[in-house]
Amino acid sequence: MTAPFREATIELDAIADNVRHFRRLTGVEVIAVVKANAYGHGAAAAAVAALSAGATRLGVAEIAEALELRRQGVHAPIMAWLHAPGERFEHAAAQDIEIGISSFDQLEAAAAAASVDRPVGVHLKFETGLSRNGVAPADWGRVLAEAARLERVGRLRIVGLFSHLSNTSAEDDRAALAKFDEGVAAAASFGIRPEIRHIAATAAAIDLPETRLDAVRIGSGSSGSRRSTTGPPPNSGCVRR
Ligand SMILES: Cc1ncc(COP(=O)(O)O)c(C=O)c1O
Repeated sequence: MTAPFREATIELDAIADNVRHFRRLTGVEVIAVVKANAYGHGAAAAAVAALSAGATRLGVAEIAEALELRRQGVHAPIMAWLHAPGERFEHAAAQDIEIGISSFDQLEAAAAAASVDRPVGVHLKFETGLSRNGVAPADWGRVLAEAARLERVGRLRIVGLFSHLSNTSAEDDRAALAKFDEGVAAAASFGIRPEIRHIAATAAAIDLPETRLDAVRIGSGSSGSRRSTTGPPPNSGCVRR
């Protein structure tokens, strides 16, 4: 027996409303996370809705996702933070994609993708306890010194310092934030002054105001309808409006 067909109705207005809500709630920049095709909602459509509601930047996991957004005409700043070992960043740099940096090698690869008078934008990621990626504390000195040097010589522009929280408990998240603050202070000691610091995703942006810093990265929190829809779908496929 085949399962009955189900249609998902994507309300782009609801995405916009939710982004507006996070702007008001947090009072800081919203980076709309549209990875994994905006969690299945359609990356470009969700990105445009979020930007129209005041999101200033976009976040995705992989460079390919960022390039696809550019191909679809999205011009806002986009950062991508998950890279394969040995990945090169020339294609990303050519499309002004900002690179999340989790290692010394990624830092060097980003700098290698810079062209004359066109530094590559990077966000340096500190590992603060989640152990998912990010520069380990033991490497902070080496990575920060090199990042500062590469910025001075015009190969990199350090746009952001960031990390990611586990959301397992408020205590864990506060400990991660304290570790992150150490990273920010270490960066400052090398003369690094990022445009933004960001650590909170949806849960912390709501529950832990001290994690909001300069920007929050909102993925799941941008979806969720303002109102329920009823009735069987008239057509097959996914409807966006
Ligand atoms: C680095 C990073 N930031 C932000 C998010 C968005 O998280 P959420 O969907 O909880 O808002 C994700 C999602 O996995 C992520 O990996």
